[in-house]
Amino acid sequence: MIIPVGLGKDSYNIVIERGALKRAAEIFDLDRKVMIVTDSQVPVEHYCGLASACKVSVAGIFQEGEASKTPQNFLNICNKMLKEGFSRRDCVVAVGGGVAGDMAGFAAACYMRGIDFYNVPTTLLSQVDSSVGGKTAVDLNGVKNIIGAFHQPRGVIIDPDVLKTLSPRQFACGAAEIIKIAACMDPELFERIESCGIAGNPDIDEIIAAAVALKVRVVEEDEREKGLRKVLNFGHTLGHGIEAVTGLYHGECVALGMLPMCSGAVRERIQEVLKRENLPVGFFEKAPEPVKVIEAAMHDKKAEGESIVTVRLDNIGSFRFEAASEEQLTRDYLEVFG
Ligand SMILES: NC(=O)c1ccc[n+]([C@@H]2O[C@H](COP(=O)([O-])OP(=O)(O)OC[C@H]3O[C@@H](n4cnc5c(N)ncnc54)[C@H](O)[C@@H]3O)[C@@H](O)[C@H]2O)c1
Repeated sequence: MIIPVGLGKDSYNIVIERGALKRAAEIFDLDRKVMIVTDSQVPVEHYCGLASACKVSVAGIFQEGEASKTPQNFLNICNKMLKEGFSRRDCVVAVGGGVAGDMAGFAAACYMRGIDFYNVPTTLLSQVDSSVGGKTAVDLNGVKNIIGAFHQPRGVIIDPDVLKTLSPRQFACGAAEIIKIAACMDPELFERIESCGIAGNPDIDEIIAAAVALKVRVVEEDEREKGLRKVLNFGHTLGHGIEAVTGLYHGECVALGMLPMCSGAVRERIQEVLKRENLPVGFFEKAPEPVKVIEAAMHDKKAEGESIVTVRLDNIGSFRFEAASEEQLTRDYLEVFG
């Protein structure tokens, strides 16, 4: 399946197909110098074929994890390209999760003021979320994605076969993002998830494609997050706060962060699908102190002055934006976790 992303001169195709990675040389223009950016935990089998299909390939492998999404590692990629004589007609390919994609995309956006970038997302989260939409970034002093650029890829390959090597916990994090976008925008997809689940679903390709199509629709309408694209932050405001004070993974925090942002009936439905995907709907022990969570949530770069825009769901498939004060967020949090 091919999903076109219509963004004028920055338009590109997303290819979603089992085994598509083996056809990378047909889908991407690899007849040039190619900087392959990946991390230490991405299995070699996911990029060795691609590397041998390039005219010249150079590997940039960083230590896995969010802590590596740094200006230093971004500079390491740029340095490598400079040393290997990369020109404006050469390109960068990311093979990995959102960390590899965001950092490699940012290097491509900056090197010689912008060279071609391709993305091969290998986590479920990066397939349905971070590989779509052209946001690239690195973190600085612990502040996530604070230095970055919009730089659309020239192409994306989503090969569901690569998910076979992903841990169930990382898989669940991607499932949280699918549940998020389905709950906000697509009641049919949400119902399908309610009845068939995501993990272990033989039609996972179709679920991925449906989620990608929703994100493409959002990005086509609002590439630079002036309005509609903020819907993707559903669950992320409190989620970021929870992430900052617990050791939970991003997708797990998004799962928890969605719950206080819904009406009671919607919350019950979301809780059921989260449980089925082995995502948390509460804390094992005592919930973290609201004051710490809310402080971290308000420090998020999307906070505007005294309030922050939140996404609320009264019904599955429709959402509204609401500016929330620190006090309001505290009430929301305590209603579910107090
Ligand atoms: N650009 C955007 O629009 C956007 C949207 C959402 C999230 N993000 C960013 O995405 C990042 C999170 O992405 P992520 O959850 O993919 O994290 P990640 O890139 O750290 O990947 C998670 C783990 O999975 C491993 N992995 C990747 N593919 C694998 C595979 N096929 N088999 C086995 N292991 C594999 C990685 O080595 C890593 O240890 C964050 O930095 C976040 O800010 C960006």
